[in-house]
Amino acid sequence: VEYETILVERKGRTALLTLNRPNALNALNLQVMNEVVAATEALDRDPECGCIVIIGSAKAFAAGADIKEMRPQGYMDMYLADWFAAWDRLGQLRTPTVAAVSGYALGGGCELAMLCDILLAADTAVFGQPEIKLGVIPGIGGSQRLTRAVGKAKAMELCLTGRTMNAEEAERAGLVSRVVPADDLLGEALAVAETVAGMSLPVAMMVKEAVGRAFETTLTEGVRFERRLFHAVFATADQKEGMGAFIDKRPPGFLHR
Ligand code: HXC
Repeated sequence: VEYETILVERKGRTALLTLNRPNALNALNLQVMNEVVAATEALDRDPECGCIVIIGSAKAFAAGADIKEMRPQGYMDMYLADWFAAWDRLGQLRTPTVAAVSGYALGGGCELAMLCDILLAADTAVFGQPEIKLGVIPGIGGSQRLTRAVGKAKAMELCLTGRTMNAEEAERAGLVSRVVPADDLLGEALAVAETVAGMSLPVAMMVKEAVGRAFETTLTEGVRFERRLFHAVFATADQKEGMGAFIDKRPPGFLHR
Protein backbone atom coordinates (compact mmCIF):
# COMPACT_ATOMS: atom_id res chain seq x y z
CA VAL A 1 0.00 0.00 0.00
CA GLU A 2 1.26 3.50 -0.80
CA TYR A 3 0.84 6.20 1.84
CA GLU A 4 1.43 9.91 1.30
CA THR A 5 1.81 11.26 4.82
CA ILE A 6 3.62 8.39 6.54
CA LEU A 7 6.48 5.99 5.82
CA VAL A 8 6.29 2.39 6.95
CA GLU A 9 9.35 0.13 7.11
CA ARG A 10 9.77 -3.37 8.43
CA LYS A 11 12.88 -4.25 10.43
CA GLY A 12 12.58 -7.92 11.34
CA ARG A 13 9.64 -8.31 13.72
CA THR A 14 9.53 -4.54 14.34
CA ALA A 15 7.70 -1.98 12.19
CA LEU A 16 8.75 1.66 12.03
CA LEU A 17 6.06 4.21 11.13
CA THR A 18 7.40 7.71 10.45
CA LEU A 19 5.03 10.67 10.35
CA ASN A 20 6.02 12.55 7.22
CA ARG A 21 4.39 15.95 6.69
CA PRO A 22 7.55 18.01 7.25
CA ASN A 23 6.06 21.26 5.90
CA ALA A 24 3.34 21.22 8.56
CA LEU A 25 5.41 19.85 11.47
CA ASN A 26 3.45 16.59 11.05
CA ALA A 27 0.12 18.27 11.80
CA LEU A 28 -2.44 15.50 12.05
CA ASN A 29 -5.04 16.04 9.34
CA LEU A 30 -7.65 13.44 8.49
CA GLN A 31 -5.38 11.88 5.87
CA VAL A 32 -2.64 11.30 8.44
CA MET A 33 -5.20 9.81 10.83
CA ASN A 34 -6.61 7.49 8.19
CA GLU A 35 -3.16 6.41 7.02
CA VAL A 36 -1.79 5.80 10.53
CA VAL A 37 -4.89 3.80 11.46
CA ALA A 38 -4.88 1.78 8.20
CA ALA A 39 -1.15 1.05 8.41
CA THR A 40 -1.16 0.06 12.07
CA GLU A 41 -4.28 -2.09 11.71
CA ALA A 42 -2.60 -3.91 8.80
CA LEU A 43 0.49 -4.48 10.98
CA ASP A 44 -1.77 -5.60 13.81
CA ARG A 45 -3.16 -8.37 11.58
CA ASP A 46 0.39 -9.55 10.74
CA PRO A 47 1.66 -12.20 13.18
CA GLU A 48 5.21 -11.48 11.95
CA CYS A 49 4.98 -7.98 13.46
CA GLY A 50 5.63 -7.90 17.20
CA CYS A 51 5.95 -4.17 17.90
CA ILE A 52 5.20 -0.87 16.14
CA VAL A 53 7.30 2.28 16.62
CA ILE A 54 5.78 5.66 15.74
CA ILE A 55 8.25 8.52 15.27
CA GLY A 56 8.17 12.01 13.76
CA SER A 57 10.99 14.33 12.74
CA ALA A 58 13.74 15.79 14.91
CA LYS A 59 11.78 19.07 15.19
CA ALA A 60 8.29 17.67 15.65
CA PHE A 61 6.70 14.40 16.60
CA ALA A 62 3.47 16.19 15.67
CA ALA A 63 2.50 19.83 16.29
CA GLY A 64 -1.13 18.90 16.82
CA ALA A 65 -4.27 18.36 14.85
CA ASP A 66 -4.32 20.36 11.61
CA ILE A 67 -5.56 23.80 12.58
CA LYS A 68 -6.06 24.89 8.96
CA GLU A 69 -8.26 21.89 8.24
CA MET A 70 -10.35 22.40 11.39
CA ARG A 71 -10.82 26.19 11.22
CA PRO A 72 -13.85 26.18 8.84
CA GLN A 73 -15.68 23.18 10.34
CA GLY A 74 -19.02 23.50 12.08
CA TYR A 75 -20.64 21.34 14.71
CA MET A 76 -22.56 19.24 12.16
CA ASP A 77 -19.40 18.67 10.10
CA MET A 78 -17.53 17.46 13.18
CA TYR A 79 -20.43 15.39 14.47
CA LEU A 80 -21.37 13.68 11.21
CA ALA A 81 -17.74 12.87 10.37
CA ASP A 82 -17.23 11.82 14.00
CA TRP A 83 -14.02 13.86 13.70
CA PHE A 84 -10.98 12.09 15.25
CA ALA A 85 -12.99 9.01 16.34
CA ALA A 86 -10.77 6.79 14.17
CA TRP A 87 -7.80 7.62 16.43
CA ASP A 88 -9.46 5.46 19.10
CA ARG A 89 -8.63 2.44 16.94
CA LEU A 90 -4.93 3.07 17.51
CA GLY A 91 -5.53 2.51 21.21
CA GLN A 92 -7.34 -0.74 20.44
CA LEU A 93 -4.44 -2.39 18.60
CA ARG A 94 -3.31 -5.62 20.20
CA THR A 95 0.31 -5.26 19.04
CA PRO A 96 2.44 -3.20 21.46
CA THR A 97 3.26 0.32 20.24
CA VAL A 98 6.11 2.70 21.07
CA ALA A 99 5.93 6.48 20.58
CA ALA A 100 9.38 8.02 20.06
CA VAL A 101 8.97 11.75 20.65
CA SER A 102 11.49 14.33 19.52
CA GLY A 103 10.58 18.02 19.43
CA TYR A 104 6.97 19.16 19.57
CA ALA A 105 4.24 16.80 20.77
CA LEU A 106 1.45 19.32 21.17
CA GLY A 107 -2.32 18.90 21.23
CA GLY A 108 -3.15 15.94 19.02
CA GLY A 109 0.58 15.13 18.88
CA CYS A 110 0.70 14.66 22.65
CA GLU A 111 -2.55 12.71 22.45
CA LEU A 112 -1.14 10.45 19.72
CA ALA A 113 1.94 9.76 21.87
CA MET A 114 -0.30 8.94 24.84
CA LEU A 115 -2.29 6.48 22.71
CA CYS A 116 0.89 4.39 22.43
CA ASP A 117 1.93 1.83 25.05
CA ILE A 118 5.51 2.96 25.67
CA LEU A 119 6.43 6.64 25.43
CA LEU A 120 10.13 7.44 24.94
CA ALA A 121 11.26 11.06 24.75
CA ALA A 122 14.29 12.75 23.29
CA ASP A 123 15.77 15.45 25.52
CA THR A 124 14.36 17.94 22.98
CA ALA A 125 10.76 16.82 23.48
CA VAL A 126 8.07 19.40 24.30
CA PHE A 127 4.66 18.19 25.48
CA GLY A 128 1.46 20.12 25.95
CA GLN A 129 -2.26 20.44 25.34
CA PRO A 130 -2.43 24.05 24.09
CA GLU A 131 -5.88 23.71 22.51
CA ILE A 132 -7.35 26.30 24.86
CA LYS A 133 -5.18 28.95 23.20
CA LEU A 134 -7.07 28.20 19.96
CA GLY A 135 -10.47 28.36 21.61
CA VAL A 136 -10.96 24.59 21.69
CA ILE A 137 -10.29 21.67 24.00
CA PRO A 138 -8.42 18.37 23.51
CA GLY A 139 -10.33 16.02 21.19
CA ILE A 140 -8.27 12.81 21.02
CA GLY A 141 -8.41 11.92 24.69
CA GLY A 142 -5.89 14.41 26.06
CA SER A 143 -8.01 15.59 28.98
CA GLN A 144 -8.42 11.96 30.07
CA ARG A 145 -5.08 10.32 29.30
CA LEU A 146 -2.92 13.24 30.45
CA THR A 147 -4.84 13.36 33.71
CA ARG A 148 -4.39 9.63 34.26
CA ALA A 149 -0.69 9.91 33.37
CA VAL A 150 0.35 12.95 35.40
CA GLY A 151 -2.52 13.56 37.81
CA LYS A 152 -5.01 16.38 38.17
CA ALA A 153 -2.62 19.11 39.30
CA LYS A 154 -0.42 19.15 36.23
CA ALA A 155 -3.13 18.13 33.76
CA MET A 156 -5.41 20.98 34.85
CA GLU A 157 -2.62 23.51 34.67
CA LEU A 158 -1.39 22.35 31.28
CA CYS A 159 -4.87 22.17 29.73
CA LEU A 160 -6.09 25.45 31.25
CA THR A 161 -3.02 27.54 30.45
CA GLY A 162 -1.61 25.77 27.39
CA ARG A 163 1.80 25.72 29.07
CA THR A 164 4.18 23.12 27.67
CA MET A 165 6.56 20.86 29.56
CA ASN A 166 10.01 19.74 28.55
CA ALA A 167 11.26 16.16 28.54
CA GLU A 168 12.68 16.35 32.05
CA GLU A 169 9.40 17.57 33.54
CA ALA A 170 7.47 15.01 31.51
CA GLU A 171 9.63 12.21 32.87
CA ARG A 172 9.35 13.48 36.44
CA ALA A 173 5.57 13.66 36.05
CA GLY A 174 5.36 10.09 34.75
CA LEU A 175 4.24 10.91 31.22
CA VAL A 176 7.26 9.24 29.59
CA SER A 177 9.12 6.10 30.56
CA ARG A 178 12.57 7.41 29.69
CA VAL A 179 14.45 10.42 28.24
CA VAL A 180 17.36 9.80 25.88
CA PRO A 181 19.70 12.10 23.93
CA ALA A 182 17.97 13.21 20.72
CA ASP A 183 20.54 11.48 18.51
CA ASP A 184 19.87 8.16 20.24
CA LEU A 185 16.07 8.32 20.08
CA LEU A 186 15.49 6.20 16.98
CA GLY A 187 18.07 3.62 18.03
CA GLU A 188 16.66 3.35 21.55
CA ALA A 189 13.10 3.11 20.29
CA LEU A 190 14.02 0.36 17.85
CA ALA A 191 15.96 -1.46 20.57
CA VAL A 192 12.99 -1.35 22.93
CA ALA A 193 10.71 -2.49 20.12
CA GLU A 194 13.03 -5.33 19.18
CA THR A 195 13.09 -6.47 22.81
CA VAL A 196 9.30 -6.46 22.99
CA ALA A 197 8.96 -8.09 19.55
CA GLY A 198 11.30 -10.86 20.70
CA MET A 199 8.89 -11.84 23.46
CA SER A 200 5.96 -14.16 22.86
CA LEU A 201 3.47 -12.09 20.86
CA PRO A 202 0.34 -13.49 22.52
CA VAL A 203 1.88 -13.06 25.96
CA ALA A 204 2.92 -9.48 25.13
CA MET A 205 -0.66 -8.87 23.98
CA MET A 206 -1.92 -10.18 27.31
CA VAL A 207 0.49 -7.90 29.21
CA LYS A 208 -0.86 -4.99 27.18
CA GLU A 209 -4.45 -6.01 27.92
CA ALA A 210 -3.73 -6.42 31.62
CA VAL A 211 -1.92 -3.09 32.12
CA GLY A 212 -4.50 -1.34 29.97
CA ARG A 213 -7.29 -2.72 32.15
CA ALA A 214 -5.83 -0.84 35.13
CA PHE A 215 -7.15 2.35 33.52
CA GLU A 216 -10.63 0.96 32.93
CA THR A 217 -11.71 -0.84 36.06
CA THR A 218 -11.53 -1.31 39.84
CA LEU A 219 -8.52 -2.90 41.56
CA THR A 220 -10.46 -6.05 42.46
CA GLU A 221 -11.77 -6.54 38.93
CA GLY A 222 -8.38 -5.68 37.46
CA VAL A 223 -6.58 -8.24 39.59
CA ARG A 224 -9.25 -10.83 38.72
CA PHE A 225 -8.72 -10.05 35.02
CA GLU A 226 -4.96 -10.40 35.44
CA ARG A 227 -5.37 -13.73 37.26
CA ARG A 228 -7.50 -15.15 34.41
CA LEU A 229 -4.88 -14.11 31.85
CA PHE A 230 -2.12 -15.48 34.08
CA HIS A 231 -3.86 -18.85 34.10
CA ALA A 232 -4.39 -18.59 30.34
CA VAL A 233 -0.69 -18.19 29.53
CA PHE A 234 -0.22 -21.76 30.75
CA ALA A 235 -2.08 -22.82 27.60
CA THR A 236 0.70 -21.33 25.42
CA ALA A 237 3.66 -23.18 23.96
CA ASP A 238 5.70 -20.11 24.82
CA GLN A 239 5.20 -20.62 28.57
CA LYS A 240 6.79 -24.07 28.23
CA GLU A 241 9.55 -22.61 26.06
CA GLY A 242 10.26 -19.60 28.30
CA MET A 243 10.39 -21.56 31.53
CA GLY A 244 12.20 -24.46 29.85
CA ALA A 245 14.85 -22.13 28.47
CA PHE A 246 15.46 -20.69 31.94
CA ILE A 247 15.88 -24.16 33.44
CA ASP A 248 18.16 -25.25 30.56
CA LYS A 249 20.19 -22.01 30.93
CA ARG A 250 19.67 -21.02 27.27
CA PRO A 251 17.93 -18.10 25.55
CA PRO A 252 14.26 -18.76 24.72
CA GLY A 253 13.09 -19.12 21.13
CA PHE A 254 9.49 -18.10 21.34
CA LEU A 255 7.02 -19.56 18.86
CA HIS A 256 4.52 -16.72 19.30
CA ARG A 257 1.78 -19.16 20.18
C1 HXC B 1 -1.59 23.15 10.90
C2 HXC B 1 0.56 23.70 11.47
C3 HXC B 1 0.34 23.25 12.80
C4 HXC B 1 -0.93 22.71 13.13
C5 HXC B 1 2.36 23.97 12.65
N1 HXC B 1 1.81 24.14 11.43
N2 HXC B 1 1.48 23.44 13.50
N3 HXC B 1 -0.40 23.63 10.54
N4 HXC B 1 -1.86 22.69 12.15
N5 HXC B 1 -1.22 22.23 14.34
C6 HXC B 1 2.44 24.71 10.22
C7 HXC B 1 2.57 26.20 10.34
O1 HXC B 1 1.37 26.84 10.00
C8 HXC B 1 3.67 26.46 9.35
O2 HXC B 1 3.12 26.42 8.05
C9 HXC B 1 4.57 25.25 9.48
O3 HXC B 1 3.76 24.22 10.09
C10 HXC B 1 5.75 25.49 10.40
O4 HXC B 1 5.27 25.98 11.66
P1 HXC B 1 5.79 27.34 12.32
O5 HXC B 1 4.76 27.80 13.25
O6 HXC B 1 6.26 28.27 11.28
O7 HXC B 1 7.06 26.79 13.12
P2 HXC B 1 7.70 27.41 14.45
O8 HXC B 1 7.71 28.91 14.36
O9 HXC B 1 8.97 26.67 14.65
O10 HXC B 1 6.68 27.01 15.62
C11 HXC B 1 6.45 25.68 15.98
C12 HXC B 1 5.20 25.58 16.88
C13 HXC B 1 3.99 26.23 16.19
C14 HXC B 1 5.46 26.25 18.24
C15 HXC B 1 4.93 24.07 17.14
O11 HXC B 1 3.89 25.71 14.85
C16 HXC B 1 2.68 26.01 16.85
O12 HXC B 1 2.37 26.59 17.89
N6 HXC B 1 1.84 25.15 16.26
C17 HXC B 1 0.49 24.89 16.76
C18 HXC B 1 0.55 24.06 18.02
C19 HXC B 1 -0.84 23.79 18.53
O13 HXC B 1 -1.58 24.68 18.92
N7 HXC B 1 -1.22 22.53 18.51
C20 HXC B 1 -2.53 22.12 18.94
C21 HXC B 1 -3.41 22.04 17.74
S1 HXC B 1 -5.08 21.79 18.22
P3 HXC B 1 3.43 27.57 6.96
O14 HXC B 1 2.54 27.20 5.82
O15 HXC B 1 3.15 28.86 7.60
O16 HXC B 1 4.90 27.35 6.68
C22 HXC B 1 -5.21 20.17 18.47
C23 HXC B 1 -6.58 19.80 18.84
C24 HXC B 1 -6.82 18.35 19.03
O17 HXC B 1 -4.31 19.39 18.35
C25 HXC B 1 -8.28 18.11 19.12
C26 HXC B 1 -9.10 19.31 19.37
C27 HXC B 1 -10.07 19.64 18.32
